[in-house]
Amino acid sequence: MKKYHQYRDIPSQLTASLADRVAVCPYRQSFHVEGDMGYVNDPNGVCFFDGKYHLFHQWSPLTYSEDSWFQGWYHLVSYDMITWEDAGVGLQTDTVYETHGAYSGSAIADGDVMRIFYTGNTRDANNERIPYQLVALMDKAGHLSKVTPPAIIGYPEGYTDHFRDPKLWKKDGHYYAVIGAQRQDKTGTSLVMHSLDGFDWSILGEVGTPYQDFGYMWECPNYFEMDDKGILLFSPQGLAPEGNYYHNIYQTGYVVGNHIDKENLRLTDQKNFVELDRGFDFYAAQVMQAGGRTILFSWMGLPDINYPTEDYAYCGCLTMPRELFLDGDKLIQKPLPELDNYRKEILSENINASEGKVFMTGFKTNLQFSVTKAEERGQVVIKLTASQDGRLGTKLILDYDRKEIILDRSQAGVPLAEEYGSQRVLLEDLGQQLDLDIYLDRSSIEIFVNGGQEVASSRIFPGDEQVYTVIEGADAELDMTIYDLTI
Ligand code: FRU
Repeated sequence: MKKYHQYRDIPSQLTASLADRVAVCPYRQSFHVEGDMGYVNDPNGVCFFDGKYHLFHQWSPLTYSEDSWFQGWYHLVSYDMITWEDAGVGLQTDTVYETHGAYSGSAIADGDVMRIFYTGNTRDANNERIPYQLVALMDKAGHLSKVTPPAIIGYPEGYTDHFRDPKLWKKDGHYYAVIGAQRQDKTGTSLVMHSLDGFDWSILGEVGTPYQDFGYMWECPNYFEMDDKGILLFSPQGLAPEGNYYHNIYQTGYVVGNHIDKENLRLTDQKNFVELDRGFDFYAAQVMQAGGRTILFSWMGLPDINYPTEDYAYCGCLTMPRELFLDGDKLIQKPLPELDNYRKEILSENINASEGKVFMTGFKTNLQFSVTKAEERGQVVIKLTASQDGRLGTKLILDYDRKEIILDRSQAGVPLAEEYGSQRVLLEDLGQQLDLDIYLDRSSIEIFVNGGQEVASSRIFPGDEQVYTVIEGADAELDMTIYDLTI
């Protein structure tokens, strides 16, 4: 068996047998993007082109069957970013510049074409990695043409072969991209590239931030502007935990500063990196700007972590897309308003937590709570039960003594990534008034706290018993509404 394949090499019997394995998985998601088989990771090429939203993601179809690891792009399209249509394989690994993967990259609508910029990964006879930065154009009929020679061959002096994931933007007729890089001293950074025609690229230099020694590699950088601010979003690897932050194996977060341009690459002198998501599973996020909106897509997973669906020949899903807003130097993340078309109210009640309430919920559910706690003492626990007796479950602990919200997945179902801890703190300044907007799919939970002030995305793998929500604890008033999601 060859180690690396192209999608077209996959025999149809193999696809069918893998589909059979996936079909019996109890953890299949309903309204999150996941693969039909194999490994799904980073969102790629998110853009609005020809009247539709386009989303690609990294996909390695045979990872759990043939021990074969090859990454290409899979393509989906949507009119509202809630329901996605399958558009088939997006980028194949079909040139000599990407024999070992069509790695992450981005796309913009550029006149009549979608302009794609991505990394071709190769290894030579000595297993040395040689990255290429490749341009591809897709027309409105979906025909893709890859441009040769590559825009950038290899990596610049002073850096290593970890040089990948270009994220494009266009401003005042110039093309720019940021790319993830590792300096020769094994610290991570991001370089800015520039082109006048979108084909012929040069490297301008590093984005200026005070982070000289901040992890060993920055993957999937994004640069985007909101109002008069420039934002660099990236996924650093190699940060040690600090207080309530950086507890996952790798991180994703952002720094806010000024606009950068060809003459000025210094974004900021402030050390203001903020981890973007406070849950257990979030990485390699990518931003799209379209129609005056800034939308964030992310992988709800992490490299080098094993997920229970691997037993069923697949792994990985994306988060729900979110809309970003800037409040001072902080990004606020909100669920898309388009979701309103998919909510069906099933219950609306005002309860007191001290009475101990149980509600039937389900796996395609939006739970909205407005919690009022006059006396800021004691705990209120919202538990998604994972056993018949209600003892086990995913717990959201509102701890008014510590003024924290804690997400505890230690008893959420099949354990995972326990070496990185089973609790995350989502908020440090819990007060009398709290809003929670929670989205449950079969094997994930996304929690928006106080109108998107904080968000936590996590995979959870409960048995079928997780259909009840139990609310108990100290005296607190909860206005709650439960919706079925009809996606
Ligand atoms: C991030 C990443 C990228 C790379 C891609 C390969 O998860 O490692 O840096 O381009 O995945 O699938």
